[in-house]
Amino acid sequence: MNILILGANGFIGSHLSETILTQTNWSVFAIDLAQDKLEKCLSHERFHFFAGDIIKQKEWVTEHIKKCDVVLPLVAIATPAAYVQNPLSVFELDFEANLAIIRQCAHYKKRIIFPSTSEVYGMCPDTEFDEETSNLVTGPIHKERWIYSTSKQLLDRVIYAYGKHHALAYTLFRPFNWYGPKLDNIFNSKPGGSRVLTQFIGNILRGEDIMLVGGGAQQRCFTYIDDGIGALIKMIENKNNLAHQQIFNVGNPLENVSIRVLAESLVELIKRYPQYASAASKTKLVTVDAAQYYGAGYQDVQLRVPAIHRASKCLDWQPRVNLATGLRKTLDFYLV
Ligand code: UGA
Repeated sequence: MNILILGANGFIGSHLSETILTQTNWSVFAIDLAQDKLEKCLSHERFHFFAGDIIKQKEWVTEHIKKCDVVLPLVAIATPAAYVQNPLSVFELDFEANLAIIRQCAHYKKRIIFPSTSEVYGMCPDTEFDEETSNLVTGPIHKERWIYSTSKQLLDRVIYAYGKHHALAYTLFRPFNWYGPKLDNIFNSKPGGSRVLTQFIGNILRGEDIMLVGGGAQQRCFTYIDDGIGALIKMIENKNNLAHQQIFNVGNPLENVSIRVLAESLVELIKRYPQYASAASKTKLVTVDAAQYYGAGYQDVQLRVPAIHRASKCLDWQPRVNLATGLRKTLDFYLV
């Protein structure tokens, strides 16, 4: 199989590329602006990389959609601070650029595996989010955080409609706080400049306080990247066509922890790395108001737990890596 990965140097794209090359005989055609996370892939004979921007390199993208069997459009802005500070960029890249790709997949009859997001459920009150029964609940327009969620939601709906009315072969996957090595840059010192885990690691290393937005009682189900990639490989394989026209939550419901507990765990774990022990022992956890940290356009999600029975049944998939193991592997990557 020929697999096209748009945004291969991202967190998901880089891990997926590596796993495809080591565990399958598929070829990967890849594009990204940068290549720093692809060091293990670049010289591989089945990895074909093109340095470029999917918005500018339209001909390359079309040519490769035609040439490949499966398309994974992974280019997106995925940090909440950016949704609030730069909502139109989120719309232009996450929505508009990806809509063009989806249309081409429909036109050329190519299978698309598209990243939806746990964020589509927004502030849904369900104790467990179900792909087929949960309502998607977002806030008022001036709460700009939801531009990411609603952009992704509309793309989910467009893909679904192409599937129903034009036989588009698709699988939608919804990552629930995937984390691991290569997540975000821990040296990005901008508050909210990266997702929470890498943000906190950076805070500790720089000797800064950890900011707990709204006190840190909000919970997330942290899912180790290897588990997420395992599910993606099964979606690409599509055994017995069971991933066809399906939506899958991909998350670890067993590792549902508050942001405060995550911060406390990280401080304790980093104390075990001699070079950083002293910085960790000085770290303070400070409560910060959400509007002050992110701006008035922010609204948070308090509870976000995936139902995973569909992924379990159709893909024969279960998350395997607990948070303690996943955090240790992540810290080893960033600190050793
Ligand atoms: C994330 C992002 O939107 C996407 O990466 C993705 O689509 C999705 O969720 C997912 O991976 O499931 P969120 O979990 O809110 O959204 O993003 P984080 O930036 O990782 O923040 C998690 C929580 O930590 C939020 O409640 C946030 O307010 C809090 N936080 C973040 C802090 O308390 N302090 C900080 O310094 C940073």
